[in-house]
Amino acid sequence: AKITFITIENEEITVEGDSGNVMELAVANNVAGIDGDCGGVCSCATCHVHVDPAHVAKTGEASEIEQDMLELDDNANEYSRLCCQIQVSEQLDGVILRVAGDE
Ligand code: FES
Repeated sequence: AKITFITIENEEITVEGDSGNVMELAVANNVAGIDGDCGGVCSCATCHVHVDPAHVAKTGEASEIEQDMLELDDNANEYSRLCCQIQVSEQLDGVILRVAGDE
């Protein structure tokens, strides 16, 4: 699947992946602002993204544990996901994810 990240600096990075999770893919491609400090176990929120509103059907909704984690982040909104909790699959093809960062 093709996945496009938009960084805080508005840089657009499109990457291609077919396995693992979206955080791993972002880190492997040096997407600025996605750190993945906890290694993808939903406990650091350094992989926070805002899903493009038109693409929420591709990513689905955050799990309860994920939502609890997001609640601690001032920057969270209804489009927030921790991208280590999104598996890369063809379903994601064309999705646009904005790096949330910490403002
Ligand atoms: Fe830590 Fe996603 S990498 S919550």
